[in-house]
Amino acid sequence: QSLLPPGYTLRALRSNDYERGFLKVLEVLTEVGNHSRQEFDEQFNYLKKHNHQYHTITITEDAKNQVVAVGTILVERKFVHKNGLVGHIEDIAVNGNQQGKKLGLRIIQALKYIGAKRGCYKVILDCSEKNVPFYQKCGFTQKEVEMAWYV
Ligand code: ACO
Repeated sequence: QSLLPPGYTLRALRSNDYERGFLKVLEVLTEVGNHSRQEFDEQFNYLKKHNHQYHTITITEDAKNQVVAVGTILVERKFVHKNGLVGHIEDIAVNGNQQGKKLGLRIIQALKYIGAKRGCYKVILDCSEKNVPFYQKCGFTQKEVEMAWYV
């Protein structure tokens, strides 16, 4: 397990991460949209109410009080594997100027730990070809093929 660099803190998503740039970090992934505080809270409160299913974590740069890395694991209940649980890692993002400091690795390690603690029999994710080496370094192996249908 690698450690966080000094001056960074990893914790669960908080409501006031809205002010601390949480949504800005996600912009490295895709279009996020301009959430009002109320729109952010709607989603935050849903995730909080379903915190047996959604675990979103952040890494903050303490000196700037800004979120710089984020990630989520969604725990899915299945009938197969005798009511088994599968962890789905989603929306991993590290601020452009903070990449390469092992923050992404640390986010993935923490999400894998949550998945294992929750009793998931596997943790899976979809990613681009470009990110395959990163996830291999995080202990994942390539399996199957992703399919998508956009509405
Ligand atoms: N190609 C090869 N190696 C890589 C790459 C890459 N694209 N990215 C990271 N690595 C390696 C690093 O060199 C490091 O290796 P080392 O241990 O030998 O030094 C190791 O992987 C860990 O790298 P980190 O420093 O933890 O990576 P970083 O903090 O930059 O996070 C991430 C990687 C999340 C891909 C980040 O660059 C990012 O946010 N990119 C844009 C958004 C994105 O693509 N997110 C992932 C979407 S997939 C999903 O969400 C499920």
